[in-house]
Amino acid sequence: MTIRPVKTAVFPVGGQGTRFLPATKAVPKELLPVVDRPLLQYAVDEALAAGIERMVFVTARGKNALEDYFDVAGELVASLKAKGKTAELAVLETTQLSPGQIAYVRQQEPAGLGHAVWCARHIVGDDAFAVLLPDELLWNPANPALAAMHDVYRQRGGNVISVLEVPDEHTNRYGIVTPGAIDGLVTEVKGLVEKPKAGTAPSRLAAIGRYILQPEVMTILSAGKRGAGNEIQLTDAMAELIGVQPFHALTFTGTRFDCGDKAGHITANIALALERDDVGPAVREWLKAQVI
Ligand code: UTP
Repeated sequence: MTIRPVKTAVFPVGGQGTRFLPATKAVPKELLPVVDRPLLQYAVDEALAAGIERMVFVTARGKNALEDYFDVAGELVASLKAKGKTAELAVLETTQLSPGQIAYVRQQEPAGLGHAVWCARHIVGDDAFAVLLPDELLWNPANPALAAMHDVYRQRGGNVISVLEVPDEHTNRYGIVTPGAIDGLVTEVKGLVEKPKAGTAPSRLAAIGRYILQPEVMTILSAGKRGAGNEIQLTDAMAELIGVQPFHALTFTGTRFDCGDKAGHITANIALALERDDVGPAVREWLKAQVI
């Protein structure tokens, strides 16, 4: 079995972010901050920690701010230098990627996650690749989600997805795994179903927005088959690889924040703020005062 290296990550950021209107009228959801870093920055940091070298953003109309964010802010840098603001300059440096490390592709219609991934097919080429949904903030600085998946991939090859157990009543919101053999945190994937109807889910193991996939998934997506919600579903395309290629799910160990949802985003801000030396004490004090 050839284990193709994973050097490219695809970030589908073409969604409309309707749950965050009116903010997302002007600001892409992926640039909403958690404390002071945009959601997308957390996902890029996670990709870098997993050894990813090339980032592909699948964007859409109205998302130009994403390109500006990753560009060098020449005037800002000059002004910070002139004012001797070295701490702020250092923060900017932590966000800077090399020239050519990022590519942008437009998803011309919001036809679903599978369609967004397929838009990156020419850049991905014949390599295995990662997909990260930035609105899923998977927080585990000691063992970031994609790096842990990459370790599993190096041993087992094929396709690896990140999963978490969700409550029964939430299974109809996710891609759900039919589990096979279990080896610690790694579960063999025997089947996948997108948003199963209440009471029909094969398990409570839900896909949570991190994938390492073989390029053959692009060929399957090329058929443009519509699934749940009349969208081209990544889950349906992945399901066709089961039995053809190795397919495993790694249970995420850490805290997951669904930042595509308002409550999840607020919780992420509070949780990550509490971990920080600069804002943590003030936030903790305020929170304590709220507890009746
Ligand atoms: P969501 O289901 O959260 O949709 O997409 P959304 O449009 O971003 O947000 P709401 O529901 O309107 O508030 C899950 C992920 O898939 C991407 C989104 O950008 C997000 O990362 N996506 C979804 C696309 O890139 N293109 C699509 O056509 C659909």
